[in-house]
Amino acid sequence: MQVIIVKKASEGAILGANIIKNEMLKKKNIVLGLATGRTPISLYEELARMHKEEGLDFSDVTSFNLDEYCNVDFEKEGSYHFFMNKHLFSKVNIKKENTNVPNANALDLEKECKAYEDKIKSKGGIDIQLLGIGQDGHIGFNEPSCSLSSRTRKEFLTLDTREANIDDYGSLDKMPISAVTMGIGTIMEAKKILLLAFGKSKRRAIKECVEGGVSSLWPASILQFHNDATIIVDEEAAADLYNINYYKQKYEENL
Ligand code: PGA
Repeated sequence: MQVIIVKKASEGAILGANIIKNEMLKKKNIVLGLATGRTPISLYEELARMHKEEGLDFSDVTSFNLDEYCNVDFEKEGSYHFFMNKHLFSKVNIKKENTNVPNANALDLEKECKAYEDKIKSKGGIDIQLLGIGQDGHIGFNEPSCSLSSRTRKEFLTLDTREANIDDYGSLDKMPISAVTMGIGTIMEAKKILLLAFGKSKRRAIKECVEGGVSSLWPASILQFHNDATIIVDEEAAADLYNINYYKQKYEENL
């Protein structure tokens, strides 16, 4: 696990976008695993800028999103379909038919989840998976105590997660209670992983997941077993890390 500590979130977003850009330049028909939430918004802004000003080409890119809420209108604010169109897909030249966000409203969700997994496999797997992290250590919507080998499925959201994402819904009673999410096993098969965490609310999750024992109680801790995982954190999110100086030194010496 490589831990990169940046001063500010804006710096982390640019660094993250450059890591993705470098992968895109190496493989034109790259398969991107994408995330939603507040954290990746500036990274998507930077990718959109790279497309507009530097001609970064998305025409052969395929994308798979981590998750989507159940029982929401995909055309409306609050859904992750809407989020991705707003923050990335409408701003770059990715082909709509090459973008995939779980259809969490499917009547047969089990079949839908299996089809999502099969489609990822048929595209050769995910080359780079972008992740945020919940305050409870979730990745995707894999909540604490989930199976560390789980696949794409319906998952119930914890109260913490519902409260953290209330903004788009206004109140808890309007907030979805479940979502379809890629599993931990699905995420771990990505060839490369890039997790971003900014702000002091992520401090505990980063401490537990980077330096704690691997445990389903802190789902992102499983990334310690991934052989190509990079974690970009700002100083606020990194503040409780025991080895903070070591990570800084190691990164600076590798520059
Ligand atoms: P956030 O969410 O980026 O809005 O903090 C991250 C997550 O819950 O995975």
